[in-house]
Amino acid sequence: MTPRPHTPRTIRVELADRAYPVRIGNTLLADLAAALTETFGTLPRAAFVVSDANVQGHAALAMQALTSAGCRVESATITATEPQKSLDALSRVLTEMGKARLERTDPVIAVGGGITGDLAGFAAATYRRGVPIVQCPTTLLSMVDASVGGKTGVNLEVEGSLQKNMVGAFHQPALVLADIDTLATLTDRQFRAGLAECIKHGLLGGCTGDATHREWITTNLDAILARQPETLLELIARSVAFKAAIVAGDERELADSGPSRALLNLGHTFAHAIETIPSLSPTADPADAPLLHGEAVALGLIAAATTSAHLGMVPTNLIDNIRSLVTRCGLPTAVADLPTGDTLLSHMGADKKTVGGVLRLILLLPGFRAELCESPDHRAIGAGWDAIRAGRYSA
Ligand code: GLY
Repeated sequence: MTPRPHTPRTIRVELADRAYPVRIGNTLLADLAAALTETFGTLPRAAFVVSDANVQGHAALAMQALTSAGCRVESATITATEPQKSLDALSRVLTEMGKARLERTDPVIAVGGGITGDLAGFAAATYRRGVPIVQCPTTLLSMVDASVGGKTGVNLEVEGSLQKNMVGAFHQPALVLADIDTLATLTDRQFRAGLAECIKHGLLGGCTGDATHREWITTNLDAILARQPETLLELIARSVAFKAAIVAGDERELADSGPSRALLNLGHTFAHAIETIPSLSPTADPADAPLLHGEAVALGLIAAATTSAHLGMVPTNLIDNIRSLVTRCGLPTAVADLPTGDTLLSHMGADKKTVGGVLRLILLLPGFRAELCESPDHRAIGAGWDAIRAGRYSA
């Protein structure tokens, strides 16, 4: 049965001549041809759909919508895992695009989660020096984060270790279509992992003038976890509005102060360090992963809040508030197998945000704001790690 359409929301990412809408609603994939016609002024002659094995039903719906409207559709399917988000996979997709004789104005349509969107976006950025990309995110995490803002790329394997998103380009989409019907096929674990980015946006809301977002999440969490459609639309619209404001102000992450895009790394330097620990790294099959990215981000948020509190930047009760929200979301608040503080610091130093060997960490301030701190005190960072060591915390 076709789901009942809900009133869609549209948030614009204001980037002068590269501004674009993020449309959030349901039944959007079935209406893809009309959305492309509105975006490009005419239905594209051809389109290339990149999807992954987890979302074949959603990809088929998008392709059917386009072919029945008269658009020639070719496609490629990738394996959406961190090890497979590779130059080899990119090369295979580009080769398929070449075989499909895609022209400069023919869009790539990414249907999938963040890995698929990043890889397809990078393929679109480089094929013929750039063709349009339309992002159709199918996970909560990619709807509120990865699909908006134009970061695209693949991982690089260097001497046996995976360097995340080390090769890429900024390539803003022409359109983002977040169809919440696709969230129905997510496992609870995947859905909850996406909430970590929403909590992060809530903790930073004061930077763009919306200090109410975290409170809104707390109040509406039962309806969010029940995936109540109107509540999901509101959640995603709020998070996207926050991200759109940040991206519009600092597209290329060059600002060191004010509402800079670097603030979106809150919790991520800890999360990336966790993800480099072999026993906690992303696995080929995400269903077996010891930690999903969003779960590592949830831990990173607690660690960053603890570091901030240790430095006297925020009151300590903020740590408990975050921990309690993370717990209600069903996300982890502690992890086993963390190595010593020194080893973790060296993992943090390997983060690609490190500049000139100086560790740069986003730390919290009162009023749902944050700032970039260079070389924070190592004891404060150690306190952050201790806060998420399994077995260390007792309420
Ligand atoms: N995901 C962080 C950013 O888009 O900048």
